[in-house]
Amino acid sequence: MSLWTRHQALEKNSIFLVVGILAVIAIGGLVEITPLFYLKSTIEVVDGIRPYTPLELTGRNIYVREGCYLCHSQMIRPLRDEVERYGHYSLAAESMYDHPFQWGSKRTGPDLARVGAKYSDEWHVTHLTNPRAIVPQSVMPGYPFLAETEVDPTTIADHLRTSRTVGVPYSDDQIANAVADLKAQADPDNAGVDAFAKRYPKAVVRNFDGNAGMPTEMDALIAYLQVLGTLVDFKLYNEKANLR
Ligand code: HEC
Repeated sequence: MSLWTRHQALEKNSIFLVVGILAVIAIGGLVEITPLFYLKSTIEVVDGIRPYTPLELTGRNIYVREGCYLCHSQMIRPLRDEVERYGHYSLAAESMYDHPFQWGSKRTGPDLARVGAKYSDEWHVTHLTNPRAIVPQSVMPGYPFLAETEVDPTTIADHLRTSRTVGVPYSDDQIANAVADLKAQADPDNAGVDAFAKRYPKAVVRNFDGNAGMPTEMDALIAYLQVLGTLVDFKLYNEKANLR
């Protein structure tokens, strides 16, 4: 019996065929999956990456709640046109503390992975309140209510704790002081600013929405937008990775 006729026998018997297909897929799966168990980490360690502050995390929750990801991606692909438009392509480490990640799948608006520090806080307040005040043809909806809605701080400590169960390294100290840190980051005059800066080195303390008092959802969302893509110093990264 030639090899060909033997294969014909396999094709004519559906049970054999199913078993054969499963065997082939199992081998393919093992080849792809097994190495992941032996790699020390599938995510390269990159200097500068830290967990979100309570205010940024609150802003991120608002970003998800409002469905910003339906029009905006946060994933710059290593393609020339994207790198020239947005900056260095996204690294896996940049979304390692994102649960769930916000890579998105649709770009009605621009990618936001490196939007941090691109515009002033006032720009964001104006744009989020009414995008057409800045870009007359914009199809982005306005979110004027964010500036009038105070942040609800009651769940933020639980949110940090929950993030910790999925691997975000929040300390007990950070969880215990989540509410204080949330208020301190949006208010440079707050007595807790120094303690906050110790817990989150290099995090920006600013009155993001320009209004004093309890942080609003506008403060939180802008704090989040302003940190996107700013944690990694790509000059250092490129030197280290010998890219330039
Ligand atoms: C219906 C789709 C849509 C939704 C939903 C949407 N946007 Fe946009 N966004 C756009 C478009 C289109 C632009 C480009 C025109 C403009 O600047 O308004 C844009 C621009 C932006 C920019 C400026 C980016 C840059 O690099 O110039 C930011 C920041 C932004 N959006 C944030 C948000 C946030 C935050 C949310 C959720 C609260 C959101 N967008 C929801 C469509 C959308």
